[in-house]
Amino acid sequence: MTSTTPSQGILSEDKTSEREEIVALLTKAYWMELETVMSYIANSINPDGVRAQEIIESLQQDVQEELGHAQDFGRRIKELYGVVPGSLEFTAEQSYLQPPTQQTDLVQVVKGVIAAEEGAIEHYTKVVEATDQVDPVTQDMVIDILHDEQGHKRLFEGFLRELEADGLA
Ligand SMILES: [Fe+2]
Ligand SMILES: [Fe+2]
Repeated sequence: MTSTTPSQGILSEDKTSEREEIVALLTKAYWMELETVMSYIANSINPDGVRAQEIIESLQQDVQEELGHAQDFGRRIKELYGVVPGSLEFTAEQSYLQPPTQQTDLVQVVKGVIAAEEGAIEHYTKVVEATDQVDPVTQDMVIDILHDEQGHKRLFEGFLRELEADGLA
């Protein structure tokens, strides 16, 4: 007869390596959200012109949502016995979301936002796959966040279609 120890799932002692792998994925997600917050703040202030207003308002709202995502990822890192990293560990990657040369250039901003959302969708899809059957709580949280990012991508694809229709993209 083999005796079975009651399992604590992902918090079990024998799940240390699985936890470390998930914490590494969540840490990357945490940095992606924080860089997105920085980029969206800049791009919700810089743009000029009448067409810019809708994009500005949308990005202002997204700043709060992405900040909430960063906090969600941070809390989950702690729950999995990880430590939320300090700012010195941060490395910027969003070259495509730097301010355009002309502040009326909305196409670059909108395309940059779509690229950021696609990057998030790609990474979070990976996290959903990695946590499948292993950590349903993280998986559930990331599915919700993934849903938000898909909504952001879709909204900005609409803005891009509009700019294209106006012959600007
Ligand atoms: Fe986000
Ligand atoms: Fe987003």
